[in-house]
Amino acid sequence: MKVIPTTESRISTIDFNNLGFGAGLSDHVFICEYKNGQWGEGIIQPYGALKQGLGLHALHYGQAVFEGQKAYRQADGRIAIFRPERNWERLNRSGERMLIPAVPKEIFMEGLSELIRLDAEWVPRGENTALYLRPFLFSSSEFVAARPSEEYTFAIVTSPVGELYTKPVKVKIEQHFTRASQGGVGYTKAAGNYGGAFLATRRAVEEGFSQVLWTDHAEHAYLEEAGTMNVAFVLNDTLVTPALSDRILEGITRESILILAKEWGIPVEERRISVDEIVAAAKNGSLQEAFGMGTAAVVSPIDGLGYQGEILPVPAQVNGVAMRMKKALADIRYGRAADAKGWMYHL
Ligand code: COI
Repeated sequence: MKVIPTTESRISTIDFNNLGFGAGLSDHVFICEYKNGQWGEGIIQPYGALKQGLGLHALHYGQAVFEGQKAYRQADGRIAIFRPERNWERLNRSGERMLIPAVPKEIFMEGLSELIRLDAEWVPRGENTALYLRPFLFSSSEFVAARPSEEYTFAIVTSPVGELYTKPVKVKIEQHFTRASQGGVGYTKAAGNYGGAFLATRRAVEEGFSQVLWTDHAEHAYLEEAGTMNVAFVLNDTLVTPALSDRILEGITRESILILAKEWGIPVEERRISVDEIVAAAKNGSLQEAFGMGTAAVVSPIDGLGYQGEILPVPAQVNGVAMRMKKALADIRYGRAADAKGWMYHL
């Protein structure tokens, strides 16, 4: 792999005590191009502009997918990435749906590792901070014919981040807009899934919510995801989350939480969850907790559900399942607890 280090680091422009989420981008990027039916050699170079014209296929047809993952600064100073191979697998599942050639595992893992080694000083120190990793894959031929691109670019940018949500969120049960439909691309991290969600989210924010709680495309009667996160509820001491389908992202945080819950002896149900069931449970007090799960948000307690103009309060328990999960994951990620499942990939 070719490496061109920067001559002018921008790290002094970052306030590591007030990171927020996703604003500053680190000094270097990884880029690898697919041309003539094969992947070329990867290169790490200083962050900068793309050298491509406005015929860039991804801008017209959105043949583009991405991943979100994090590298952590551990208690002993080492840096480790959480379950990176699961992200590689999911990137290629997304790519398969969007007719984008698969990125070989060595290119993904070596690109990620070398990039983080070079920008190691960008991995923040401090609780609830991490280096957010954004691998992405887009069509990079230049033409406007409506057919799949012939060339593709795999790239990685990184960004030091703090928490996405610093307090419990209120979410609006969305019964007008739809995020995903059957047979569609909802299970992938296709770029358009996120762009297509911005209007509904903007409306919800204008109404005082942080996010929308997406419902199904056909009847708007079943709960599917919370904004850019998977969603879970605690009902009668059982952890209940929508079953995976082609409308739901196979979240790696979701999967890890379900594994821990089963280990802890918490009953887990992956099934259809109706709006009526959750609204009734919120009203009669049997809804013990609701929370979002995702890479950016980690675990985000939900303290209110907006439903047909009403706000139904949900207990945000200080020592409930959500907060215990958040702590258990943090302990593994920051190297304070044994990594019994081999989830951490050390550089
Ligand atoms: C993530 O949690 O990594 C996501 O992909 C959400 C993102 C759009 C901020």
